[in-house]
Amino acid sequence: MRRFITVGSAAAIAVAITACGGGDEGGTPSPAPAPAAAPSAAPASAGGNTGGGAVPEGATAEMVDQGQVVFAGSGLCYVCHGAAADGTQLGPDLTDSEWLNTDGSYESIIAVVTDGVPEPKAAPGPMMPRGGTTISDDEVRAVAAYVWSLSR
Ligand code: HEC
Repeated sequence: MRRFITVGSAAAIAVAITACGGGDEGGTPSPAPAPAAAPSAAPASAGGNTGGGAVPEGATAEMVDQGQVVFAGSGLCYVCHGAAADGTQLGPDLTDSEWLNTDGSYESIIAVVTDGVPEPKAAPGPMMPRGGTTISDDEVRAVAAYVWSLSR
């Protein structure tokens, strides 16, 4: 009889050990260092925004970036204003703070890009609406945000 009792006690101890083991596993999956990585990423993206140059009110840094692509691509702006937007014989410098047909505000730049310049003040020929292309309203706002940022 004593043997049976002993075996029973051993089994009880084994169950207790197993339960403890399970408890340990429950504690293991709490390595907390992961969240610490998130705060260190936030300042980096904030620095990216300020490093990307000025952004007009009502636009975003992404729009300025997209506008640069439109300027040098589908908008054909570079053909007359130059790849660096500093002007050619066909179109004026857009990087200085001197404006012929706008007051330099974001809204007025959107307007001049949308409507073009039928009667140029200095250039030998006109600018067609949207540079003569079919860029969308969103692309006009983006390229205008890019042009705005150039002179800031
Ligand atoms: C066919 C050549 C041509 C193309 C293409 C062209 N422009 Fe122009 N742009 C001009 C001319 C010409 C003027 C007016 C210059 C003047 O008044 O003497 C002008 C004026 C402007 C102005 C006003 C500048 C000021 O000083 O008042 C902006 C802004 C502008 N263009 C942006 C753009 C953008 C953005 C694009 C592309 C979507 C573009 N242009 C495409 C020729 C062009």
